[in-house]
Amino acid sequence: MRIFVTGGTGLIGTHLVERLIDRGDQVLVLTRRPDMARQRFGERCRIVEGDPMQRGTWQNEVGDCHAAINLAGEPIFGRRWNSEFKALLVESRLKSTNHVLQALMTSGQKTGGDSRALVNASAIGFYGPRGDEELSEESSAGSDFLARLTVDWENAAYAADAQGIRVSVVRIGVVLDKAGGALSQMLTPFRLGLGGPVGSGNQWLSWIHHEDVVGILMLALDRYDVHGAMNATAPQPVTNREFARELGRALHRPAFLPAPKFALRLKFGEVADILTTGQRVLPRKAESLGYEFRFPTIDRALQNILCQS
Ligand SMILES: NC(=O)c1ccc[n+]([C@@H]2O[C@H](COP(=O)([O-])OP(=O)(O)OC[C@H]3O[C@@H](n4cnc5c(N)ncnc54)[C@H](OP(=O)(O)O)[C@@H]3O)[C@@H](O)[C@H]2O)c1
Repeated sequence: MRIFVTGGTGLIGTHLVERLIDRGDQVLVLTRRPDMARQRFGERCRIVEGDPMQRGTWQNEVGDCHAAINLAGEPIFGRRWNSEFKALLVESRLKSTNHVLQALMTSGQKTGGDSRALVNASAIGFYGPRGDEELSEESSAGSDFLARLTVDWENAAYAADAQGIRVSVVRIGVVLDKAGGALSQMLTPFRLGLGGPVGSGNQWLSWIHHEDVVGILMLALDRYDVHGAMNATAPQPVTNREFARELGRALHRPAFLPAPKFALRLKFGEVADILTTGQRVLPRKAESLGYEFRFPTIDRALQNILCQS
């Protein structure tokens, strides 16, 4: 298949692009940083220079692709939130989705119509903070800033449905990878023995190993019977306290020092609330489709990631 990817240089995108190339797909990576992308992928995929937030000639490249995987978005933890940055978090996702979709909609004749698909990133922030409630794809949306952002992001993607494009939105949990994201930020304090639970430690952390998030994105891409939302989280979420204990154990370090909620609020502002609240999300749809997790439990996931050189 010929596949157009936005956000292909990111944490998830890099693993995904590698996996698509390895299985023989032709991959086009849209990026604002072509030199960096060339360094990363070499000649193994086509690098398309462009900004998904802007219309441009890059959209012509989507024309003869069978599918697009849209992962682009300003990083949520990129900096302290203010109204300007919150607007960028929203716009970078909605505009990118609209522009990819516009381009994909013009591609029907070239690729044989019905097989076109849009796999759009979404996030478990869709559900908002939900205490101990078990959440599946059928659960309702939350109402905080991230939940509203995510609902709008998903709705932007669903607009392709009306054009005969199969749409799958993948609600991604906290991706564990040494190379970046939440885990990489925690490694230094935990290695120094300064790690521990965040806030009360009772909030749920719906995590996923980076190999499994790619596996679920590929499932959404490959299965013609998959439509709508699919959670990309491991089948066994843990509380933040359990996570801290397992990370400490994997690193052979004590992990008892709590990070108080007020201190995090002071340091990071509003975005700290993501760390001190959480949701208990279950991957019901992926499991019903027969997806077998490589890393279903946190101990196996951490051992694998931390043993990688
Ligand atoms: N990682 C997680 O734990 C997690 C959890 C839930 C949801 N997600 C979602 O999944 C998607 C991919 O996540 P990730 O962790 O791989 O993200 P990432 O590492 O931050 O990469 C995001 C990619 O989006 C592009 N991008 C960033 N800011 C942009 C902007 N302002 N305008 C246009 N493009 C921009 C960048 O591409 P170029 O610089 O090459 O143009 C970058 O490679 C994101 O939308 C994220 O919200 C991630």
